[in-house]
Amino acid sequence: MSKTVDIDWSKLGFSYMKTDLRYVSKWSNGEWDEGKLVEDNKLAISESSTALHYGQQCFEGLKAYRTKDGKVQLFRPDRNAARLNDSCNRVLMPEVPEEKFIDACIQVVKANEHFVPPYGTGGTLYLRPFVIGVGDNLGVKPAPEFIFCVFAVPVGAYFKGGMAPVNFITSDFDRAAPYGTGAAKVGGNYAGSLMPHEEAVKNGFADCIYLDPATHTKIEEVGAANFFGITKDNKFITPKSPSILPSITKYSLLHVAKEYLGLETEERDVLIDNLDEFKEAGACGTAAVITPIGGIQHKGNLHVFHSETEVGPVTKKLYETLCGIQFGDVEAPEGWIVEVK
Ligand code: PLP
Ligand code: COI
Repeated sequence: MSKTVDIDWSKLGFSYMKTDLRYVSKWSNGEWDEGKLVEDNKLAISESSTALHYGQQCFEGLKAYRTKDGKVQLFRPDRNAARLNDSCNRVLMPEVPEEKFIDACIQVVKANEHFVPPYGTGGTLYLRPFVIGVGDNLGVKPAPEFIFCVFAVPVGAYFKGGMAPVNFITSDFDRAAPYGTGAAKVGGNYAGSLMPHEEAVKNGFADCIYLDPATHTKIEEVGAANFFGITKDNKFITPKSPSILPSITKYSLLHVAKEYLGLETEERDVLIDNLDEFKEAGACGTAAVITPIGGIQHKGNLHVFHSETEVGPVTKKLYETLCGIQFGDVEAPEGWIVEVK
């Protein structure tokens, strides 16, 4: 590390900070250009860009981790590349080849290596890849041109308290429709979530829980994270639905729970009226990592899981194993870690 920056790593939250360089690549006439690192954090685009009017865009989130011996590594970037392309397909944007996606992430991490928080601070370098529809256009149709960017920001905990349990409240709003764009990481889903989130926070909760849009009887998402519960007989359960975002953290935890902790796992319906089946619950995602759920408020009743103040033992073990893999302290399954060299 040659350059240094004056940051109190232990105080990082989840907010924007301009780092040195970001990657920008443009698509026109059927192909992506080479792409390059630039200093400017502003994009100049047509006022009529589809990204601005019709929400033709999508994004990803992944992190770079500093290991104990000072190396830097990415966690499952191939999964983010695949999901970005699923999102691109859903909103008719060109795919970004996996090698281009991973190469862009690596270039951005290397160019901002001094912003990767030191091992042991809990901080990571969050990468935000995105694709937007740009160029002159007026009707509701795909853009003539596209931009793919990746920028990086050092981050700490997403939910205040990090590994301390927080409470959530169910929302009467939906973030997605039954056959809508819930499984794609497109901005419109997040625009729709701003008001329910604000309402939940105003009422003293960390975020809201979305129920399935068709019947409002099953848990779908915990804000911008997936849900998991540990049953009284030690099964790791997570909802299965076509309208939730397929969380890479959740699929990693399904593997960790089974292969590292020896738990039975199941993806299936989680009924909001049957929370009693769980002794522990949590939210999981790249930003959220694992956030223990203290309790869920639904129709005026607060259902408390393990405790509102203490982390349950299974959640703790899942957290330690997942973070151990991500920070290089626990052996990772084949292909999960990409070293930034
Ligand atoms: N659900 C939503 C709505 C999200 O925005 C995210 C964040 O990416 C997740 C779940 C978690 O997904 P992942 O673990 O891939 O970050
Ligand atoms: C992530 O976990 O990467 C997210 O995208 C969640 C949120 C910050 C949108």
